This record gives sequence, C-alpha cells and structure tokens, in this order.
Amino acid sequence: MITYNEAKILLSDNGQEQILQFWDQLDVDSQEKLLAQIETINFASINVMKDLLISKDEAGADSEFEPAAVIDFTEDERKASVEVGEDLLRSGKVGVLLVAGGQGTRLGFDGPKGAFLLGPISNDSLFAIHAHKIVALEKKYNTEIPYYIMTSQVNDAATRSFFEENDYFGLSKERVTFFVQGMWPALTPDGKIILDRKDHVFMSPDGHGGLLSALDARGVIKDMKIRGLNTIFFFQVDNALVDIADPAFIGVHHKENSEVSVKVCAKRDPSEGLGVVVNMNGRNAVIEYTELTDEQKNERLPDGELKYKYGSVAIHVFSVDFLEQESVASLPLHVAHKKVPYCNDAGESVSPNEPNAYKFEKFIFDAIPHAKKSINVVFAREDEFSPVKNAEGEDSPATAKRDMMEKFARWMKACGCGIPRYGGDGELIFKLEIAPDFALDVNDMKRKLPGNFTIDGDLLAK
Ligand code: UD1
Repeated sequence: MITYNEAKILLSDNGQEQILQFWDQLDVDSQEKLLAQIETINFASINVMKDLLISKDEAGADSEFEPAAVIDFTEDERKASVEVGEDLLRSGKVGVLLVAGGQGTRLGFDGPKGAFLLGPISNDSLFAIHAHKIVALEKKYNTEIPYYIMTSQVNDAATRSFFEENDYFGLSKERVTFFVQGMWPALTPDGKIILDRKDHVFMSPDGHGGLLSALDARGVIKDMKIRGLNTIFFFQVDNALVDIADPAFIGVHHKENSEVSVKVCAKRDPSEGLGVVVNMNGRNAVIEYTELTDEQKNERLPDGELKYKYGSVAIHVFSVDFLEQESVASLPLHVAHKKVPYCNDAGESVSPNEPNAYKFEKFIFDAIPHAKKSINVVFAREDEFSPVKNAEGEDSPATAKRDMMEKFARWMKACGCGIPRYGGDGELIFKLEIAPDFALDVNDMKRKLPGNFTIDGDLLAK
C-alpha cells in the first residue's frame, strides 16, 4: 500500500493536500483506510474534472444536431429479424448485461433497486422478474445465456447476498458474473476533493458509462470471449417490462451489421426523462434529457409531431468487438451540481441543504458515435418499457404494475380470453401475472393454450 510520505507527495503534486488535514487525529486503522482510499483515486481523471469545472466545456448538446433516422419494422421485416435472433440465441452467442450500480435516490428505497418487490401477484423483485425471463429463454432456445451484472461499491455486497439468499432465482450460478464499476470523488467549485468524514473521501459511482472501463479492468470482456459470445443485450434494472434478449432486436442488429443498436419509442410528452436520438456530424448519438434546452424539447414539426420525438429507453445490443474497442476508449464527462456531505474544519460531518459540490458521471450512450454503424429501432412502449424511477406518480411501482398487468391482459385477449374490467372498459378487476416460464410472449401463450380456449370475462366478473 502507498505510504504516508508517498501520499503526501502525490496529493501535494495534485493540489489535494486537504485530504490529509485530520491525519494526526486518526488512529492507525483509520489512517490505513484513508491511504487505501487515496490509492484508488485516479488523479489524472480528477485533473480532467478540475479543468472541466474551469472551462465549463462539458459534454452535451452544444453542437449542431438533427433527429436521427429510425427503423420501424414491417411485420415481414420483424419476422426475418426474429429468425436471425433466434439462431444466435440457439447457438449460444448471446449474453445479457444489466447495469445496476445506481443509487435509486428518487425511489427512496433502501437497498439495491433490483431488490424492490414488484410482481403483481408473485411479489417478485425486479431481479427475480429479470432472472426468470433469462431462465425461460435458456429453456425455450435450449441454450446458455451468460448474465453479467454491474454493481457499485454502494450495493455490491447487498446485491450478491440477495442473489445468494434467493438461490439465484433459478439461474445457473456458473453463468452469473457480478462486477463493480468505478467510484469517483466529488469536487468543490474550486476543484478540491471532499472528505465526508475525517478519514474518508466522499465517493459515488462513476455513471453507467463506467461500465466500459470496468469491463476491461474486471476481465469481463475476456470472459465474454472465452464463452464464445459475440452479442450482448444491455438493459437497466428499473424496467419491469423489458423483453430481455428480444430476438427481433438482436436479429436486426446483426442483419444491419450494427455495432450498437438502440431501442427507441415516441416520448410520452416533451418533458419526459428520456435521452433523445439525434444525428450529430453524420453519426448517431443520444443527448440526455437534462442537456436539452426547453426550446429543443418542445420544438415541433409542421405536422405537429415533436421534432425530437424518439427517446432511448436504455435498451441496447452491443457487439462484443465494439465493447472491447470501447473498453479502453475515453468517454466525455457529465457534471451535476449536487448536495454532498462534507467534513467541516472542526472535523464534524455536515449534510448541506443546498448543492455544494460537483459530481461527475460517464454515460454509456456516449460510445454510440464511435460506432462505424449504429441503428435506432422503434418498438411498442406499452409492451416493453415501464420503469420504476419515482416512489409515486409516473414511472412508479404503481404504474409499472399496472403496465405489466395490461400487457398480460393483451396477451390473454389475443388468446380469446375475456378480461373482466370495472365498468366494462375500466381497470382490471383481477390481478394478472404470467410467469415467463409459461410464456415469454403472446405467441408462446397461443402455443400453450388449446385452440378452442376461451374465458368468459363477464362470467368471471360476476
Ligand atoms: C436513464 C438514461 C436516459 C434514458 C432513461 C430510460 C442515463 C444518464 N440516462 O435515465 O437516457 O432515457 O434512463 O429509463 O442513464 N447506473 C449504474 N451506475 C451508475 C448510474 C446508474 O449502473 O453510476 C444504472 C442504474 O442502476 C440504472 C440505470 O443505470 O439501472 C439508469 O440510471 P438512472 O440514474 O436511473 O437514469 P435516468 O436518469 O432514469
């Protein structure tokens, strides 16, 4: 481990001597912990962040851009893509990658967001809901699907224990790989790293773009190659409806020789928190909603449609070769002004009421412009996107449960079942949930049910 003298020189060379401000008051244990933490800090990155605060030259929407082209499948195109995707699944070339290192601050849930219980009847957690889909896919295609889960120091131990306690939800443990993303300090407006305790530097996850360097640093790319994967399906932990390793999406990615593909849907309204897909300097890109001006968010075409209509729902397919290339590339930094707990000069920990510091994050979608070819594919949002972001209102557990049940109701209706609703066309009278093991989509369900299967909804309602 780094010694006190080495740390002192390193910090003074980088203008961060304040980290050792309380050194003489610390016991040996705390001193060692602090040195170990200092050793993990990449000062070259910190200096880039400092420069960014001074220059204000942040990644974002300053350049000229136009709406990106999108692929909206015809039924025949969808079928052709499904065939390609199913072949890839059967041949064991597809892995699944989940980013779950975030802190879920908006939901206000104490624990990894994936442990949040959401199944309308099963009361399954988000982690269980996702895992059951992977187990069902493996069975359906008689294949193996390695599952990579990115956590962060904030929730790694809790995530692993949650999987252990639940027997990995039926997944083969040998095919589940957890890996942690990096952590970064926060900076004061004049570029100083912040202590939140006398012996501890405040750190937070480096954004889901931290995935790329973590894939390299934690040997994940190597593992993907050893397992013979060439295609990775990427998703976020908060989306209860996600159609994991959707064959149509994987298939079109391959047919188009795309290196990174993006699922998009029309935004619910101009202010919805979705990054929009654009074309910038001849390349596809995503611009985060926080980095668009109100004018850009609200701009409309002559036909009344939003100009930046299509949002990315953070469902991607990556080629493994592209991930390998990007794992050593650098991504731009995004800055956010936040409330960060700090240790005052008297050594007391303080939680500020106003933003006092800058946090930095990398976003995975900033890799998209590096791709030789990338595509945006339109999908039906009601079938595949209903995230749990807030405790109440839109994008909450209540709306996610409602949207899951409505999706299952559509499947049942397509299979000839009447669906009892209040007042005939209001909310569902009964709770509905279909286990992925029984059906992953409406076609699975049609195959499982006898041709003459019907349920009389009116009778059920009585
Ligand atoms: C995100 C996307 C947005 C997209 C929307 C769709 C970003 C910056 N924006 O918004 O473009 O339209 O989802 O729902 O992602 N995570 C990590 N490590 C981190 C930070 C986040 O793994 O350091 C993971 C979280 O666990 C979560 C996902 O990334 O699975 C999204 O993070 P979140 O902060 O909730 O993003 P949003 O602002 O909702």
